[in-house]
Amino acid sequence: MLDAAVVNELQDRLLSWYATNGRDLPWRETRDPYAILVSETMLQQTQVSRVLPRYREWLLTYPDLEALAAASLSDVLRRWQGLGYNNRARRLRDCAAAVVASAPEERACLPVSEAALRGFPGIGPYTARALLVFAHGWDVAAVDTNVRRVLTFELGLAADLRPSELQRVAEAVVPAGRSRDWHNALMDYGALVLTSRVTGTAPIRRQSVFEGSRRWQRSRLLRLLLEHGAQDVTAIARALGVSAHDARDLVGMLERDGLVVLCGEQARIA
Ligand code: ADE
Repeated sequence: MLDAAVVNELQDRLLSWYATNGRDLPWRETRDPYAILVSETMLQQTQVSRVLPRYREWLLTYPDLEALAAASLSDVLRRWQGLGYNNRARRLRDCAAAVVASAPEERACLPVSEAALRGFPGIGPYTARALLVFAHGWDVAAVDTNVRRVLTFELGLAADLRPSELQRVAEAVVPAGRSRDWHNALMDYGALVLTSRVTGTAPIRRQSVFEGSRRWQRSRLLRLLLEHGAQDVTAIARALGVSAHDARDLVGMLERDGLVVLCGEQARIA
């Protein structure tokens, strides 16, 4: 059971902290669901400082769902370079295409319900709720790692609370009518004050990108195909300095992510 006085104190303290210390971030100046989908997708596993320039460029190149739906995967991946986890870019483009295809005669728009949003590629429970909060101001809870850390620490929750339980608590503490500010406050407080270093909680581990790692090789292969077009496996092996067997393995990984197709011995961007 949550103590109402504890919840009120936390709400007041974080909202007033946010009023003076909150970050000015461009996705906080819009209510456009598409722009928020772009920012939330970019922000998954990528730092704010890296996202900022890419977010601005992206919206200039693809200002709406129609523009993104019409883009080729190669162009989309080029605009995504530097953000990592490239299948997020493919899913974002696939999501735009699916939304546009679902309402061919009208201007495409994202639905306004969690269940309907989750029917589109790349939109999981967190992203669906983040859209309802940031685009529509709904009093629902979107729990990412920062939000989880702040609520766990401030409310003294068990570190291993089940996600459904945590979700229930997070919903219960959203201040009525202030969902957008509340989430921004939780995220900023988690990023700037109550960092994982301060609380001693292990951050979610990113896949390794050290030189020579699989992820590093995969991104080199993708860059090779984006810059030089289709290549056969032997040429890929030579360019990356790996065996033909390893080159085929890397192509296979990108193929499973839907980023590359292998036609005979030729690999190209899907
Ligand atoms: N991380 C995920 N969503 C965010 C947001 N809206 N602001 C800052 N960091 C975030």
